[in-house]
Amino acid sequence: MDLAPLPGFRDFFPEERARRDYVFEQWRAAALRYGFCAYDGPPLEQTDLYRQKSGDEIVKQLYCFQDKGERDVSLRPEMTPTLARMVVRGGQSMPKPLKWFSMPQLFRYERQQKGRLREHYQFNCDIIGENSVEADVELVALLIDCLRSFRLTAEDFYVRVNDRQLLAALTQAIGIVDPELQGKVFGALDKFTRESPETIRSMLVAAGAVESQADQLLDLFKLKTLSEIAGRFDAHPAVCERVLHLQKFFGYIESMGLKDYAVFDITIVRGLAYYTGIVFEAFDRKGKFRAISGGGRYDHLLKKIGNVDLPAAGFGMGDVVLGEILTDRGLWPSKWSSGIDLYLVLVDESLRAPFLALAHELREQGWRADYSLSGGGVGKQFKAAGQRGARFAIVIGPEEWQRGAVKLKHLETREETEVRVDQLKSVLAEKLDSRFLGNDNKIGMQATIKS
Ligand code: HAM
Repeated sequence: MDLAPLPGFRDFFPEERARRDYVFEQWRAAALRYGFCAYDGPPLEQTDLYRQKSGDEIVKQLYCFQDKGERDVSLRPEMTPTLARMVVRGGQSMPKPLKWFSMPQLFRYERQQKGRLREHYQFNCDIIGENSVEADVELVALLIDCLRSFRLTAEDFYVRVNDRQLLAALTQAIGIVDPELQGKVFGALDKFTRESPETIRSMLVAAGAVESQADQLLDLFKLKTLSEIAGRFDAHPAVCERVLHLQKFFGYIESMGLKDYAVFDITIVRGLAYYTGIVFEAFDRKGKFRAISGGGRYDHLLKKIGNVDLPAAGFGMGDVVLGEILTDRGLWPSKWSSGIDLYLVLVDESLRAPFLALAHELREQGWRADYSLSGGGVGKQFKAAGQRGARFAIVIGPEEWQRGAVKLKHLETREETEVRVDQLKSVLAEKLDSRFLGNDNKIGMQATIKS
């Protein structure tokens, strides 16, 4: 049997798992700083939840099957439909706007490539029940601050922002009015930066645009600024209105001091079908990696799913591309310690019972304490203490024990003191970082950030 995980799936050995925990900690802290509440949903949903609402691309990638009750089900490829379903089901009476976040594992049967796996974790932040541009600004600001908390700067990444309604107004201005045709045209335009202009042109024509429209669209995608667009389409009020909307967005981003992190980019379309307004994607500046994050406004999804008229916007940030960039920039915390505070060393087997009692008491006090399960020589136990990254060894030997004491050895400085057992608690509290005391420390591996 092949012992490797399935293609596109990952094993998380302790060091990889520690990195994942680090990513989750930054995600969670960023969401909490912006007043978001955590939620979660099931990993398996009815396939119908994704059909038509998410768009063809994602439906083609579904891990779908019939369960034993003959229901058509799928592993979730994204969180947004689940969130919409949950808000329709239980969030309607809650005060709006809802600001919710989650960090689900998602599954997409994608062609494997750099930055794309068949499972990934995705940080999702969404605001439900607020249609003002301030909500879009809040989300993009959170996205930027979150990436900054990984010590990425404006030189490392930027957020490219567009507006689906601006795109709709522009395509209408060149004669593409039918919403279905518009949807197909958006699908082709979404590939603009990944395919050659000739390929995009054929895709547009295959989607149903006439040749002159395809040329105009390609021409349009060369426009770099909002003022160029306003200048060229000044006779089209719908275009001008959306230019103003985006200018307001960028004005607020500037007020927040985040001007260097966000740019207008007409080529951002987004692959998912449900977006209705401002859309955005975060990329590394060097253009070496795929999108770090993407999102936008989706004002009609809740109506489509459960006939509830609530505006919504949000984004998702995957752990895969983010991890590649942190590796590329050398920004992972430099050292992962196993987080052990104490390693107990037993000198003489006859003391096994009080040794176990002491270990148990120390753990009850909240210290992360470990010891050898198989005993063995003192040298071997000290070696294990080093391997486990313990900060102190507590040596229980017959002579000290007779005096009601143990030896406390700092494993880095090798400094050794004798401490009375009844004073051990206060001595440890003084010497070890008491922030880690108690049950808050749920994360198995502590990251020591490189200064
Ligand atoms: P998405 O653009 O499909 O959006 O995914 C968001 C991010 O998740 C991507 O930018 C990428 O970092 C990561 N990602 C997506 N697919 C994969 C994959 N196969 N492997 C690794 N990473 C991946 C959505 O999913 C929307 N539901 C986001 C959203 C939330 N929109 C509104 N609220």
